[in-house]
Parts: sequence; C-alpha cells; structure tokens
Amino acid sequence: MNAHSQTPAASAPAPLIDPFGRAVSYVRVSVTDRCDFRCVYCMSEHMTFLPRKDLLTLEELDRLCAAFIARGTKKLRITGGEPLVRHDVMKLFRALSRHLVSGALEELTVTTNGSQLARFAQELADCGVKRINVSLDTLDPARFRTLTRTGDLARVMAGIDAARAAGLKVKLNAVALKGVNEDEFVSLVRFAHDRGMDMTFIEVMPLGELDGPARVDQYLPMSSVRDRLAEAFTLTEIDYRTGGPARYMRTEETGGRVGFITPLTHNFCESCNRVRVTCTGTLFMCLGQEDAADLRAPLRESADDALLHAAIEAAIRRKPKGHDFVIDRATQAPSVARHMSTTGG
Ligand code: 5AD
Ligand code: SF4
Repeated sequence: MNAHSQTPAASAPAPLIDPFGRAVSYVRVSVTDRCDFRCVYCMSEHMTFLPRKDLLTLEELDRLCAAFIARGTKKLRITGGEPLVRHDVMKLFRALSRHLVSGALEELTVTTNGSQLARFAQELADCGVKRINVSLDTLDPARFRTLTRTGDLARVMAGIDAARAAGLKVKLNAVALKGVNEDEFVSLVRFAHDRGMDMTFIEVMPLGELDGPARVDQYLPMSSVRDRLAEAFTLTEIDYRTGGPARYMRTEETGGRVGFITPLTHNFCESCNRVRVTCTGTLFMCLGQEDAADLRAPLRESADDALLHAAIEAAIRRKPKGHDFVIDRATQAPSVARHMSTTGG
C-alpha cells in the first residue's frame, strides 16, 4: 500500500516539523568519511580518517534511515566521503530498497565521485535507485588528476557510461573554481547535454581546513558562471525542481538543463527541507552551522527505537533558520570546521 493513501493511525508518529514550519522530508546520510580522491577544495592531502569503530554499522545505518522514513522522510540520499568505497555498502542499498517497495520512501539517491560506478551501477538500479549525482569538475584528464590528486578521469567516464547503460538518470555536479575550471563550463554543459544529463554548478563553500589554495582564491560567484555560459548559450529560467537547493535554467541550444547551487550569493535556506547525518551518527540540522545531535548513543543504548526517535525530535526542534557562510579576505578560517566529506555532500 502506498504510504500516502494510508489513514494515519492514532499512534502514527508525527512528521518532523522544525520551528520555522519547514517539514523535514529529505535526509542525506553519509556512510563513510573516506574517499579514494583528495579533491583540493574538499580535503587536505593527508587526511586523518575516523577509526572504524566510530562508524555506524550498516545495520545501525539501516535503523537510522528507517526511523526517519517512519517520520515522513520521502527522499534519502546516500553520500560520503565516497559512499561506494564503504565495504559492503550494497547491503545497505538492498535493505533500504524495501522502503521504496512499500511506497514509504519516494526516492533513494546517491552522490558519488564515479570511481566505483562501473562496478555498482547495475546493482544500484536493481535496488530502485533512479537518479544519481556524479561529481565532475573537469573533462581534462591531467587537470582532473591535479584537482582530485589521485583520480583517474577515464575510470569516472566509464562509471558514467555504466550508469547510463543501467538506466540511471545521471546529474553531473561541478564545483565552480576560479582559475581552475572556468574555461570548461561551456564544454561541461555540452558534454552533459549531449548525453541527456543535467549539469549543475556549485559555489565552493567554506567547509574544513585545507592545505591547498585559499578559499578566497577558489571562490567564484554563480553570476560569473552564468555570464560565462551566456556567451555560448541562451539560458531561460524554468521552474523545474528536484527537491534539492538547485535552481534550473534551460539551454535553448541543447534543450538541456543547467542547475545552479548558490549557498553564498543567494540564500537557499527558506525552503530547506533537509538534514544530514554523518557516518558516526551525528545529526546536523544545517550544513552551515555547528549545532548537532548525537544519534549513535541512542542507537546503541537500546535495540528499541524510542530513544532514537526522542533524540531526532529534540534535534529538529533546534533546526536553525539558516547558515551564515562568508568567504572573504578578512575571514580566513572556514565558517564550519568540518569538511564536506564529514557532513556528506
Ligand atoms: N564547497 C562546495 N562543494 C564541495 N564539495 C566538496 N567540498 C565542497 C566545498 N567545500 C562537493 C563535491 C561534490 C559534492 C558532494 O560536494 O565536489 O560534488
Ligand atoms: Fe572525495 Fe568528493 Fe571530497 Fe572529492 S569532493 S575528495 S570525490 S568526497
């Protein structure tokens, strides 16, 4: 039976509504902080990763997701680090697919760097995953290697092909980096649209200490991306939405969509419907704030989910109105100390 058609029983758990009246219906869960890449804007070259005992087990991750789904989560995104490098991660996808079958969950998606996709694309599709996000900042193999420090572009390309062959809808995400991939925005759009994929650009966010270039030197406002694209394309505003923070435009020349994620120049918090859980079970109510709630202790303290639900409810009651990211010369420190790979993309 579809969850929507069910008459809520008197005992049905209430949906999660934050103090600003926003319903939390989208949860992003990081399953590992590890990654086989070391993207310069995301990680430092020598990252210390968490000890394995700190990570939620796959069973705990499954319980946690089920608890959110019971409270009205309709969309679940599995992220990392690189989620597909977690040992046996397909076990989790297979388990989660039961919520798609029951209709309680509308969408199960994944954000990946593509390196393991050739291996896993078909299995993901078999688990009911319909759309995936692949991070791709450049089409140039040498530049790709510099940017990711360890990545092999050919492997990612093979992964994208495998995903498309498995029938997955692929969206490409590129972080817009000044002086790094500025000259490729048009080619990235062409590459994506030639293959029926959406192309989304993201402003670099001040998350985590880096040992590479300063963020202020990487930061490029989305308006510059749009200006670049406008040199080659006619962009028309459209009201297409995928439940995430991206705003889309249509490229008349290709008929494809270009998304823009503007955490810095434009505030996307008003319609925020999401929360994030790290691989250690820390619930972040906002990507850009430090406040968090520990869900691992309640998960481990009892096999029954009462404590877990109570912890989730208490946390959602504290969901902040929005972030206050700044990137400027005066503010050298990151707005938030944790890296994107900790919180999950
Ligand atoms: N700012 C913006 N995007 C980032 N990503 C990783 N770190 C940052 C950052 N500091 C992106 C990755 C990937 C997604 C998960 O997040 O490139 O596309
Ligand atoms: Fe890995 Fe993604 Fe971070 Fe790159 S941006 S290091 S692929 S988690």
